[in-house]
Amino acid sequence: MFITMKKNYNFFIRHFLVLGLFAWLLSACQPKTEHGKFTNNLMAKMTIEEKIAQLNLVTPTSKTGPFATKNVLEKLKEGTAGNVYSIMGSPEFIHERVSLADSTRLKIPFLNGLDIIHGYKTVFPIPLGLSCSWDSVLIEKTARVAAIEGSAVGYNWTFSPMVDITRDPRWGRVMEGAGEDPYLGSIIARAMIKGYQGDDLSNPSSLMACVKHMGMYGASEAGRDYNTTDMSRLTMYQNYLPPYKAAIDAGVGSIMTSFNDIDGVPATANKWLLTDLLRKEWGFKGFVVSDYNCIQELIAHGVAANYKQAAELSINAGLDMDMASESIVASLKESIGEGKVSMKQLDNACRRILEAKYKLGLFEDPYRNYDPKRAEKVILSDNHKLLAREATCKSMVLLKNDNNVLPLNNESRIALIGPFANVKNQMFSMWAFRGETDSVVTILNGLKKQSSKVTYAEGSFVTNEPVFLKKSRAYYNEEEQKEMLANALDLAKKSDVIVAVLGEAMNMSGEAKSKTDISIPDCQRELLKKLKATGKPVVLVLINGRPLILLDDLQYADAIIEAWRPGTMAGDAVADVLFGKYNPSGKLTMTFPRSVGQIPIYYNHKNTGRPYVDGQRGGLMKFKSYYLDELNAPLFPFGYGLSYTSFEYGDIVLSDTLLIGNDKALEAKFSITNTGKYAGEETVQLYLNDLVASVARPVKELKKFIYNLENQKN
Ligand code: NOJ
Repeated sequence: MFITMKKNYNFFIRHFLVLGLFAWLLSACQPKTEHGKFTNNLMAKMTIEEKIAQLNLVTPTSKTGPFATKNVLEKLKEGTAGNVYSIMGSPEFIHERVSLADSTRLKIPFLNGLDIIHGYKTVFPIPLGLSCSWDSVLIEKTARVAAIEGSAVGYNWTFSPMVDITRDPRWGRVMEGAGEDPYLGSIIARAMIKGYQGDDLSNPSSLMACVKHMGMYGASEAGRDYNTTDMSRLTMYQNYLPPYKAAIDAGVGSIMTSFNDIDGVPATANKWLLTDLLRKEWGFKGFVVSDYNCIQELIAHGVAANYKQAAELSINAGLDMDMASESIVASLKESIGEGKVSMKQLDNACRRILEAKYKLGLFEDPYRNYDPKRAEKVILSDNHKLLAREATCKSMVLLKNDNNVLPLNNESRIALIGPFANVKNQMFSMWAFRGETDSVVTILNGLKKQSSKVTYAEGSFVTNEPVFLKKSRAYYNEEEQKEMLANALDLAKKSDVIVAVLGEAMNMSGEAKSKTDISIPDCQRELLKKLKATGKPVVLVLINGRPLILLDDLQYADAIIEAWRPGTMAGDAVADVLFGKYNPSGKLTMTFPRSVGQIPIYYNHKNTGRPYVDGQRGGLMKFKSYYLDELNAPLFPFGYGLSYTSFEYGDIVLSDTLLIGNDKALEAKFSITNTGKYAGEETVQLYLNDLVASVARPVKELKKFIYNLENQKN
């Protein structure tokens, strides 16, 4: 009896425990958050087709790959595509398209994306230029303005920031990032996300950010776009991954995969990247979208036999959304039926996308952003233009200033010459395609506002490079070139100083714009040479999207200002800098090589076992790490940038001589004095070098900086 009782008792406990565990599991699986509960309820009502549609992102206009969606509007209307990007037109037009969601069964609103990369209508300098300000507060403000303008016409998602570390200026996309340093890159990534997303994604003036391109896209071999990448985990973790991680820590809502493969597995189907690293190691909670047509491209990569298998590989690796290839929508139901993808994978992806929509407040009001009256008020407002002018001033880098040619005296007769001196659209980049060209202040106009002694001549075509002319259907004519040159020289001879505005055309940098020759095009260099031969001082203002090879041009310019692609307020800002209203303070965030043969070249390289100091050739120095025909040093290093004034640093006093352990702080004290004639700003940069470590460390690493340290002249 006793034994039976005990048995019964055990039986009871066992069942009680099982039931308890079941109840606990059930409650543990229940979402605790409001958005979790909401999406669960919604998903309970969705068919498998409706869930799959959420994973589909289509575009009516943008074709940046070999595949293009057809009948986009029908798809949005019938509900087979749950998200859209690059709808372009008036606010009303955009709204009309996005309202197609209302005709679907569950009326689930669309994510409405656009590449708002360096401004919407008010265009700021390209990201590489902005990064040269080292001013994260300013950069955050520019992203905020982009969000304010872009959201007002109804967008809720931007494909920015690009945080890919770049060491190869042949790659056309270096213009879209923050250069070569992981520490600075991380700070800028955080700032931009804060700017776009604000404190609350559901605020009508916020845009959800999309950090891209995960991962290591900036290391495309030989600087050729879409090319493979190959690197050690050490380099990855130390140099390439930190900005993506910083973006996640800053709460970025979405991530875009990259076109390249990592260890042979394309990023879009890379489980290590999308699940092990992103979800498990870093705890990313948002959703992952592929880049344009990346799923279909798994076939060309050679890892999938057809689009169905490509979609399976991607979803199983942890991808959530398909940009443009439509492979998921075409095949996922079948793959789930065959057991090749689990329903859980689909649910996970769908849930993440719906949660993003929830956080954006779209279920409360799908059109909460859209406000044509607000758009009219904020777009290109005076404040926005003022910020653009400041940002452009702060992004310019003074590369050379022999004999203090700059700042110019506005009493001098200025010959303003060059193909970029009196053009509006060339002040933008390919990623400012929604920018308002009409409102651009040309460099000629900007200078004229601040001086009555400016004359202008075009001087040259942009390029005479046959391959480029053919590919981009650009125009060049030898006779006209000669005529332009003669006019420019006439003008130059009658002036006190020449300002030559030269560089690259807008379509020479950006996506799919890799180049092996990254000099200023020959016809413009010829112009520069001839201008210098007049004997007048020459100030070269560069308009370009990447570090250029300038070694031979240096001798033909007394002063050089790197103005990048400067945006809406180009002319006013260039004039501010030329006339000394603003004393340039930008510092390079990407190394300028002396020759293409030095690439990849970057400041935080390792030492080698046979380090070489430039100039020490011959004898025993022979078997060292150097080039027979070129120096090791770059033309202008990372962190470089002059000012119209000079700063003197006092001795640095460190709080300790040893830095052991993660939690120890090292304090550096020093004085800095403006010893020149002008007020100016200085960015103080602190680098460390770990002399003895278990793995080889970079020769120097940026660990801290203080930007725009204002230093009034004595
Ligand atoms: C391709 C580009 O690589 C990516 O940066 C961009 O956001 C998408 N296309 C959408 O335009």
